[in-house]
Amino acid sequence: MASIAIHNNTTITESARPLTTSELLDGAVVLIEPTVQPPFGAIRQLFDHLRANPNDASALNNAYPKRGIFKSAALKNGLSDQKFTIDLSPTRDSLIPEAIRASLASHGLDDVLSFFNDTVDAHVSTILSSLSKIAGADLSLGHKNLNMNFRLCDYNPVTADPTSSNGCGEHTDYGTFSIIFQDGTPGLEVEAPYAPGTWIPIPGDATVVLAGWCALILSGGRVCAVRHRVRRTPGVRRLSVVLFVAPDLDVKLTPMTEDTNVSFSKKIMGGEIDVDWFKDVMGKRWRWREGNLELAEGEDESIVQDEEIKKLIFGC
Ligand SMILES: [Fe+2]
Repeated sequence: MASIAIHNNTTITESARPLTTSELLDGAVVLIEPTVQPPFGAIRQLFDHLRANPNDASALNNAYPKRGIFKSAALKNGLSDQKFTIDLSPTRDSLIPEAIRASLASHGLDDVLSFFNDTVDAHVSTILSSLSKIAGADLSLGHKNLNMNFRLCDYNPVTADPTSSNGCGEHTDYGTFSIIFQDGTPGLEVEAPYAPGTWIPIPGDATVVLAGWCALILSGGRVCAVRHRVRRTPGVRRLSVVLFVAPDLDVKLTPMTEDTNVSFSKKIMGGEIDVDWFKDVMGKRWRWREGNLELAEGEDESIVQDEEIKKLIFGC
């Protein structure tokens, strides 16, 4: 695997010539060759089946009533991310009753779950080792329980706003790293780390590893947390799969390294924030962006903005 990302906290403001794509993406993105290809036929079948069979969708969501599994807020909300998702994890998987699992097995669920298991076996420890080398610390010590989520995304043209180009709003993932598999359709864009506001399209057939906030903090700023988004082409369906890996929930979000590349806030340096709390704060942001968080009147202040997250982490 190529090197992942080194955060030198530099911003390129001037250049005598236009920067190349690879210069703009330096330190932000790693492309990998997956050992197993995602079963996009099965994924399409599973989304189509759940949309056409609301009783099955309800039964699946009732297995995890806290958040649900199949999310279709984009059918009603034209301002949210215009996508459908199926969110799985080892915990959610264990809660799906056998009868529901059996009824969905032939509609794609079995192939999807096998793909995730194979991907975890093939890639997770390898990527953690690569990140540990960059960090100069053994990140596996904070990943003993493998806190993972598996997400299927359907950027379907039939949503509340079919003309919207907002597939997924710009954001940085909260965890350690995410592997994004795509069906060949473009749409994923990454913000150049040293040229904020410059968005670089990623080829639709690339499999990408992006690091998140927890990797940046645990590595003392040596690993770059990468903002990204998905632009939708009206009328074009796009499928993707994401494996999210995060530290264990009780891990303190503080550098595991002796020294740091960037200046962190007192809260971070004092180990006052744990992964569980940070995930909760970030989770509200992404559920709101995706249209899956109902807010009571006056509750919108509970959505922490980007600048506040940076203040929390960097203290300025
Ligand atoms: Fe993301």
